Amino acid sequence: MCGIVGYNGTKRAVDILLDSLSKLEYRGYDSAGIAIRDKDIEVFKSKGKLANLKEKIENIELKGTVGIGHTRWATHGEPSENNAHPHISNDGSVTLVHNGIIENYQELILKLEKHNYKFYSDTDTEVLTNIIDYYYKKYKMGPIDAINRTMVRVRGSYAIAVMFKDYPDEIWVARKDSPMIIGQNKDGVYVASDVPAILKYTNKVYYIDNLEAACLKKDQVIFYDLNGDVIKKELTCIKWDAEAAEKEGYEHFMIKEINEQPDVIKKTINSYIQDNKIDLARSGLTEDILKSFKQIYIIACGSAYHVGVCAQYILEDLTRLPVRVEIASEFRYRNPLLDKKGLAIIISQSGETADSLAALRECKKQGVKTLGIINVVGSSIAREADYVLYTLAGPEIAVATTKAFSTQLIVSYILATEIAHIKRKINKKTYLELIKEIQTLPDKTKNILDNLTKSIQKIANKFSYIHDAFYIGRNLDYAISLEGSLKLKEVSYIHSEAYAAGELKHGTISLIEDNTLVIGIITQKEIYEKTISNLVEVKSRGAYIITVNPNDLDVSKVSNFTINIPETNKYFYPSLTVIPLQLLSYYITVSKGLDVDKPRNLAKSVTVE
Ligand code: F6R
Repeated sequence: MCGIVGYNGTKRAVDILLDSLSKLEYRGYDSAGIAIRDKDIEVFKSKGKLANLKEKIENIELKGTVGIGHTRWATHGEPSENNAHPHISNDGSVTLVHNGIIENYQELILKLEKHNYKFYSDTDTEVLTNIIDYYYKKYKMGPIDAINRTMVRVRGSYAIAVMFKDYPDEIWVARKDSPMIIGQNKDGVYVASDVPAILKYTNKVYYIDNLEAACLKKDQVIFYDLNGDVIKKELTCIKWDAEAAEKEGYEHFMIKEINEQPDVIKKTINSYIQDNKIDLARSGLTEDILKSFKQIYIIACGSAYHVGVCAQYILEDLTRLPVRVEIASEFRYRNPLLDKKGLAIIISQSGETADSLAALRECKKQGVKTLGIINVVGSSIAREADYVLYTLAGPEIAVATTKAFSTQLIVSYILATEIAHIKRKINKKTYLELIKEIQTLPDKTKNILDNLTKSIQKIANKFSYIHDAFYIGRNLDYAISLEGSLKLKEVSYIHSEAYAAGELKHGTISLIEDNTLVIGIITQKEIYEKTISNLVEVKSRGAYIITVNPNDLDVSKVSNFTINIPETNKYFYPSLTVIPLQLLSYYITVSKGLDVDKPRNLAKSVTVE
């Protein structure tokens, strides 16, 4: 969703804002804008990517050292310059950028219209700007009073950065259910929706909580609660390094992140496995706590949900606990009946996905313990969950997830192995074997990247013209088909579907015709033959078959193109099968000439419903 930035310090704000916005473009790229304070507040906006805004202002001298900026993912109102942020109140007293959605904006428009406010855009953000202005003028008690009254009055989610005409040396910020961090170094104070935006300048950040506000001065941040009382906060040090958020010679972030996978999965493994023993103590999950659960719920969105589907198969099989996996946006509105002795696992890279956060809150409300599998330290889900297992993927910039997905899989293998061991569902020997096999996954992943990238690139070039693709598999191979299919469609815009191989005959097979691409995932030994039979069925109807299977399986009779992966334990194949599927999606997209890091209509972190 939209990205917001701000800077108040001693350097030229425009340079810092544009640079920070370029790191946030993955959050939205329908339009961009900045407001810079010199004597007056000057606002510049452009439709489309940040490059358009840069071009527009390249010959304008902007000396101001205070400013705010925005990159938009349109919710209310089409992508246009008029709807782009920053928005300005009727008489220019308040200038604001916003990430989130104001749900009661219609009602607020009626209120403001009674006081003769006029609107130039179709956005809820312009309404928010004027509501702040309204309270600011009505009560004349300064920015914090106006912001707090607004927070009480509006419904929805927001992270806002505001400049008041009367307060030239200050930026005001506030948030509810939308991410925001505040950084500080000797050159000033920074605000952003996400860490990568400011990592180049500082790794010292403050986390601002829901319904809190802050005043950003050049050398100081003052935090307030909803009563307007000052609250104290400590700076936290972020461990990510700035290079991790740069392309470092790669053409795209997506391919860089695909290639980082051996390294980040190794880091994740090493943080939970030492001396052939799993240790989850840092998360607060003791043996007694892990033993106490009678049921597991897994809740997530998109690719993180696909990790959940994999984890469901593995956890249920290994621990013999009932496991239910659910899409967060469905879970939150179905009035779920939860077992208080259950554990709800929320999987999320960003830790800010609105539906996943709401699902977590629903579980907590019902008294169910919650565990976050999260990448972004200090994110909302990480802070609200009872326990957190962090993935060590580092900053993920490409909109389509790859390395975060792989580290989430690793954490779910480790968790399943540990619960199974604690509950005595597996013996010591199996426990040690599973640990040993998990530790081989970084090298096996590297082996796939080193040996298969070229041939996958070659075959991908042949498929840039296709309109449809089908991914099929059974059990864990079906789970990873879901991810392969999403990866392809989201970046290449090729329609694709994932099907449980046995389900094809119940309707979908009618879509197969000459040269339809069908990708068969065949890793689960007990059901090899069944999936192969399903592939034969589609081949005899004209399909072109690509298979992803372990080296030891002969599929020459059915496969037109075989992708051989190293062998592993049956539970861990998703980690290896997903790599060629990511590469295939990446190279098909590149051969179509599309912007693989920023697919149309998408945003990295979905902080609205
Ligand atoms: C797809 C993708 C998304 C995310 C989903 C959840 O490549 O990245 O489907 O997996 O939006 O996001 P997080 O993990 O941040 O909750």
